[in-house]
Amino acid sequence: MKLLFLNGPNLNMLGIREPDIYGRETYAALEQYIRDFCGELGIECEIFQSNHEGVLVDAIQGACGKMDGIVINPAAYTHTSVALLDALKAVGLPAVEVHLSDVSRREDFRQVSYVRLACCKTFAGHGFAGYRMAAEHLLSLAEKG
Ligand code: DQA
Repeated sequence: MKLLFLNGPNLNMLGIREPDIYGRETYAALEQYIRDFCGELGIECEIFQSNHEGVLVDAIQGACGKMDGIVINPAAYTHTSVALLDALKAVGLPAVEVHLSDVSRREDFRQVSYVRLACCKTFAGHGFAGYRMAAEHLLSLAEKG
């Protein structure tokens, strides 16, 4: 199984940005965490981060025919991007939405998620562990066929 892990704007600033909300671990630590659990679960992974909406659209399109699923933390684009929603719908791969923080307990503008409409599941508020939960969910879906 091959999964694309896609991270949106400002997640490269993990460890520096609002540590009370996002923790003190860096983006490099998140990448290492993902590589480690993928190794354990026998998943091949690609990890990609961009601050640019169109680049994220390109990455989703690039997964078409190459990957078996997408784990996406669209960050701020969660709440604004029809383009990411349409890209996920276009490729039709099973996708899971992840947020480090519990967006349901934050500002009103974070209560809207466009990408959620193209995702089979959301994990929010579990920190790094949400990425593993997402991968395990996609693995169990694939095993069920
Ligand atoms: C986030 C939540 C978003 O609302 C925010 O814009 C982010 C990170 C999270 O992982 O908790 O950048 O996706």
